[in-house]
Order: sequence, then C-alpha cells, then structure tokens
Amino acid sequence: MRKGKILILLLGILFITALFIAGCGGGQAEEPKEDQQQAEEPKADEQKADKQEGQKEEATEEPAEQDKEEATEDSSKEEGKMVYVSSDEKPEGCVSCHTKESEEKDYSLTAELTAMSDEFGHPKMDIQGPEQCQMCHPDGEISFDKVAHKIHLTGGEENHFITSYEGSCLQCHALTDENEMVVKGLAKDAELQVIKSASLDLETESCGTCHQNDYSLTNELTKMNEEFGHPKMEISSGEDCLMCHKADGDIPLDKVLHKAHLTGEENSFVANYGGSCLNCHDLNDSGKMTTKL
Ligand code: HEC
Ligand code: HEC
Ligand code: HEC
Ligand code: HEC
Ligand code: HEC
Ligand code: HEC
Repeated sequence: MRKGKILILLLGILFITALFIAGCGGGQAEEPKEDQQQAEEPKADEQKADKQEGQKEEATEEPAEQDKEEATEDSSKEEGKMVYVSSDEKPEGCVSCHTKESEEKDYSLTAELTAMSDEFGHPKMDIQGPEQCQMCHPDGEISFDKVAHKIHLTGGEENHFITSYEGSCLQCHALTDENEMVVKGLAKDAELQVIKSASLDLETESCGTCHQNDYSLTNELTKMNEEFGHPKMEISSGEDCLMCHKADGDIPLDKVLHKAHLTGEENSFVANYGGSCLNCHDLNDSGKMTTKL
C-alpha cells in the first residue's frame, strides 16, 4: 500500500518536473526571438538608428511606437500595421466624399449647408465646391482652414471623419509636383504626386525631438553641405531655417521639408514615423493649425 502511494507520488513529481522543464524550454526558446527583433532594428534602418533611439525614449508606452518597431523590422508589414492613407484616395477632396447618394443620404455640400442653416442659421445656398466656402471664409476667426479643421478633426470618437477616414490630412491635402501642399479641389490645374501618411500622433515637441546627436539640425546641414553645397552653419532650432527659407521667398521651408520628409521611394520618415503630419503640425485650441519648429 505505502510503496504504491510513494510510487504514485514520485511519478507525479516526475510528471510535474517534466512539465516545468517543457514550460521553461518553451519560454526560453521564444525570448531570443524578441532580442533578435531589437538587435535587427538599427540594421534595418541603417543611418537613422540614433534618431529612432531618441524617439523611443520619448514615447516607449505608445502603441504607435510598437507599430513603428514592427515596420522597421520588416518593411513589408508596414502597410498592415500602420494605417496609411494615400493622397490619391479622394482625388477631388471635399466633393469626393460630399455627394448625394440618395434622397435619404444626401451628403452634398449644399445639403451640409442646409443642415447648418437649420442648426445655427448658416447662409443657405447651392454650393458646388470649396472655392465658394473660401470666398465667404477669408482670414480671421472663421477662416476656411479653421472651420474645415474644426469640423473634421475635433471631437474624437464622436467625429465620423476621424472614425471612418482615419482623420487623415491627406483626404483633403496633397503635394503638387512642385512640392506645394495644396487643398484638393482648390488647386484644379496642379499635377499631384502620390504620397502616403498614417495618422500617428507621437507627440513630438519640435524638430529636435527627432533631430538629436548625429541627426541634429546642424549635422543635417553639414551633410547637405557635402551633398549639394547647402550653407553650413550652427543652428539651434527649426525657427533658424526661416532666416533663409521664408514663406514668401524662393525656397520656402514648407516646400523643402515636405519634400524631404514625405517623398522618395525609401523615405525613412514615412516608413518609421508613418509620414505623419502631426509630427510637425498640431491643431491648437483656437482651431489654428500650428507648426512645431
Ligand atoms: C474623406 C471624406 C471627406 C472629405 C474629403 C471631406 N469631408 Fe466634410 N465631412 C466628412 C464627414 C465624415 C463629416 C461628418 C463629421 C462629423 O461626424 O461631424 C463631414 C462633415 C462636413 C460638414 C458638416 C459640418 C456640420 O457641422 O454639420 C461640412 C460643411 C463639410 N464636411 C465640408 C467639407 C469641405 C468644405 C471639405 C473640403 C475642404 C470636406 N468637407 C472634405 C467627410 C469628408
Ligand atoms: C455666403 C457666404 C458663405 C458661404 C458660401 C459659406 N459660409 Fe460658412 N459661414 C458664413 C457666415 C456668415 C458664418 C457665420 C454664421 C454664424 O455664426 O451665424 C459662417 C459660419 C460657418 C461655420 C461655423 C463657424 C463657427 O465656428 O462658428 C462653419 C463650420 C461654416 N461656416 C462652414 C462652411 C463651409 C464648409 C462652407 C462651404 C461648403 C461654407 N461655410 C460656405 C458664410 C458663408
Ligand atoms: C476636411 C479637409 C481638411 C482636412 C482633413 C485637413 N485640412 Fe488642412 N486645410 C484645409 C483647408 C480647406 C485649408 C485652407 C486652404 C485655403 O484657404 O487656401 C487648410 C489649410 C491648412 C494649413 C494652412 C493654414 C494657414 O494658416 O494658412 C495647414 C498648415 C494645414 N491645413 C494642415 C493640415 C494638417 C496637418 C491636417 C491633418 C492633421 C489637415 N490640414 C487636415 C482642409 C483640410
Ligand atoms: C518624427 C521625427 C522627425 C521630425 C519631428 C522631424 N524630422 Fe526631419 N527627418 C526625419 C527623418 C526620419 C529624416 C530622413 C528622411 C529620409 O529618409 O530621407 C529626416 C530628414 C531631415 C532633413 C534632411 C533632408 C535631406 O535632404 O537630407 C532635414 C534637413 C530635416 N529632416 C529637418 C527637419 C526640421 C527642420 C524639422 C522640424 C520642422 C524636422 N526635420 C522634423 C525625422 C524627423
Ligand atoms: C544661410 C541660409 C540658409 C539657412 C539658414 C538654411 N538654408 Fe536650406 N537652403 C539654402 C539655400 C541657398 C538652398 C539652395 C541650395 C541649393 O539648391 O544648392 C537651400 C536648400 C535646402 C534644401 C534642399 C532643397 C531641395 O532642393 O530639395 C533643404 C532640404 C534645406 N535647405 C533645408 C534647410 C533646413 C531644414 C534649414 C534649417 C535647419 C535650412 N535649410 C537652413 C539656404 C539656407
Ligand atoms: C518635417 C515637418 C513637417 C511635416 C512632416 C509636415 N509639415 Fe506641413 N509644414 C511644415 C513647415 C515648416 C511649414 C511652413 C511653416 C508654416 O507655414 O507654419 C508647413 C506648412 C504646411 C502647410 C501650409 C502651406 C502653405 O503654402 O502655406 C500645409 C497645408 C501643410 N504644411 C500641410 C501638411 C500636411 C498635410 C502634412 C502631412 C501630409 C505635413 N504638412 C507634414 C513642416 C512639416
């Protein structure tokens, strides 16, 4: 009797030990995979490794950050992980979405104005396109940019544009072949490039959040000096670029920066930071789109 019990006990212990070893083995087998992923990251991203390190410290908890790591590890996965919107998806902008589908589902701009008229007394009229909004909404408290951004980009989950269309800037904006960022439908004759962007908010503070150490703005200018003779100088923030790249000058800053960050086959800003406009722009409380220099 006693011997039998001991035998069962021993068998039991053996069984548990076996399970334990098997369990540990499984765990150990998986761990190196994770290490490998991290070890590969800088390699996959070659030159921009430091930049990523800096970024990582800023936002380790961000889910977006994981997406970025995945994307870096295997760029073929990037499409699945980050939700990119392509600038050619709604080629006409406003009127690509604001159409009359049926009597009940009338989303035309005219119907939207009628709804706003019922709601708060907006002028009621037939309207064909955004140039008409622009005429009545020049600079000021209710400038066209402010009203368009407020309607589509505020209110979080309550806002259909955010939930159904990724809240993407590229539903309305596009880059011309001259690197001018325009509103589709307002720049009728422009040749548009196809760019893509994911709506990530990495909550960057300024250019310096990414441009640190080897990638500091001063070093970027030095590299550009070697490449094509860009003036070489010490620079402390993106504001300093405006000295030469004035908005109304020959080479405005938005053109050179949009080109550098959003175009090109293997642009690492697009691959690793989702090509996100929010890395540089932010909607402030008054509805104004600002630039984080
Ligand atoms: C990708 C599709 C899409 C594009 C492009 C788009 N909109 Fe909208 N628009 C929406 C959606 C979705 C809503 C509803 C937002 C909400 O839930 O309040 C909306 C709402 C509106 C409203 C109603 C606001 C209100 O409070 O009733 C107006 C007016 C409007 N859009 C005008 C425009 C104009 C002008 C443009 C171009 C500059 C434009 N939209 C581009 C999808 C789009
Ligand atoms: C005929 C001139 C006119 C046209 C065209 C027009 N608006 Fe307006 N809009 C106004 C005026 C005036 C107000 C202020 C009305 C008020 O506050 O009672 C206004 C207010 C608004 C507001 C509310 C702004 C706020 O925050 O109080 C929105 C949103 C708006 N317009 C969007 C549009 C859009 C989008 C279009 C084009 C589809 C458009 N409007 C076309 C004259 C116009
Ligand atoms: C629903 C369409 C729509 C969406 C979505 C949209 N914009 Fe705009 N944006 C406009 C319109 C319309 C203007 C005004 C254009 C004009 O009057 O020439 C504008 C103007 C701007 C301007 C210039 C403002 C100024 O002071 O002159 C910036 C910067 C800008 N948008 C950035 C963004 C960014 C970044 C996003 C995404 C986070 C975004 N926009 C999303 C329609 C949109
Ligand atoms: C979220 C990170 C991030 C932010 C914010 C950012 N950059 Fe960059 N920047 C990058 C990456 C990544 C590249 C490399 C793009 C590529 O693959 O060519 C780059 C490239 C550049 C280049 C090199 C262009 C060339 O042709 O060699 C300059 C200059 C530059 N950025 C300036 C700026 C300025 C000025 C700002 C602020 C307005 C800014 N960046 C904001 C990540 C960022
Ligand atoms: C002292 C004046 C000066 C300052 C300051 C300056 N730039 Fe430039 N930049 C130029 C000139 C001039 C060119 C045209 C050079 C050429 O094409 O040979 C240029 C060209 C560029 C280009 C290439 C444009 C293209 O053809 O695609 C980029 C990118 C650029 N600058 C970014 C910046 C950034 C970012 C800053 C701030 C960190 C900056 N620059 C500060 C004078 C300046
Ligand atoms: C690397 C930083 C950077 C990124 C990324 C970026 N922008 Fe900009 N953008 C700028 C700067 C700098 C300006 C010029 C300064 C200003 O006007 O405030 C500008 C200006 C603009 C303007 C006004 C152009 C004009 O002619 O007045 C629009 C519209 C705009 N950006 C839209 C976008 C959209 C949409 C995206 C994403 C697809 C984007 N930007 C991504 C830095 C950036």
